Amino acid sequence: MTTTGLAGRSVVVTGAGSGIGRATALAFGAQGARVVVADLNADGAETVVKDIVAAGGTALAVTGDLSEQAVVDRVTTTAVERFGGVDVLVNNAGIMDRMSAAGDVSDAEWERVIRVNLTAPFLLTRAVLPHMLKAGKGAIVNTASEASLRGSAAGAAYTASKHGIAGLTKSVAVTYRDKGIRANAIAPGGTQTGMVPDLDQGATGPTAILAYMGNVGRVATADEQAAAIVFLASDAASNINGVILPVDNGWAA
Ligand code: NAI
Repeated sequence: MTTTGLAGRSVVVTGAGSGIGRATALAFGAQGARVVVADLNADGAETVVKDIVAAGGTALAVTGDLSEQAVVDRVTTTAVERFGGVDVLVNNAGIMDRMSAAGDVSDAEWERVIRVNLTAPFLLTRAVLPHMLKAGKGAIVNTASEASLRGSAAGAAYTASKHGIAGLTKSVAVTYRDKGIRANAIAPGGTQTGMVPDLDQGATGPTAILAYMGNVGRVATADEQAAAIVFLASDAASNINGVILPVDNGWAA
């Protein structure tokens, strides 16, 4: 039986100040990993660091907008200087658009959603790759979406960004597989977080968002998404590469 191998590893989790990212950072902390908690929201990030440390783990916060190269550089430098490298990168930070149909998306909405959901993960990936290549190992896990797997009547920018991150995941996987670096993604179905207020209330009825998503039976918890991310980052998934893993109670089946 392979162990997770995560104890002592340097792990960057973006969007770790709330929701799926928070649950993921806590889960890595519980595995003994050293966690860089990156988020725009300073209070959220500091709270997660405190919670990890209170549980006996090791973590540091880096706050700022990850769509800016300077913030990406600060995240990477912090992981390298404080924790000795970047063993795992979790590109999880993301924003929902206003669910505009393609004909109604403003330039500003399009550019912001693509910048945060797709360009920021690319910038982070590019920044950490030299460190992973030097170490001869690394794992990248991206938070894609069920919107990576099919189109929807609205949410053109979000859907495009999430299809994009699936493509980035696969490209990195096939390019670096001989260098000891793996890249995978989870594709969450509707999950109880602040991003989707209807879901945060534990709604299981035909709310607008659930009607859009289709009948998922029940929504996921952030901990269920975190468990899949930690698995894909761990040595237990050592031969899994380039996968977009639905975590959606069978919605994509
Ligand atoms: P959330 O809103 O609770 O967490 C997102 C976090 O990302 C927040 O803490 C926010 O401050 C941070 N963030 C946003 N933009 C940022 C930026 N430019 N720089 C740094 N940090 C930034 O939402 P949730 O649900 O935890 O979302 C996490 C990921 O899961 C996102 O990529 C989202 O698209 C994806 N997802 C969520 C689903 C859901 O039903 N909640 C379904 C499918 C995918």
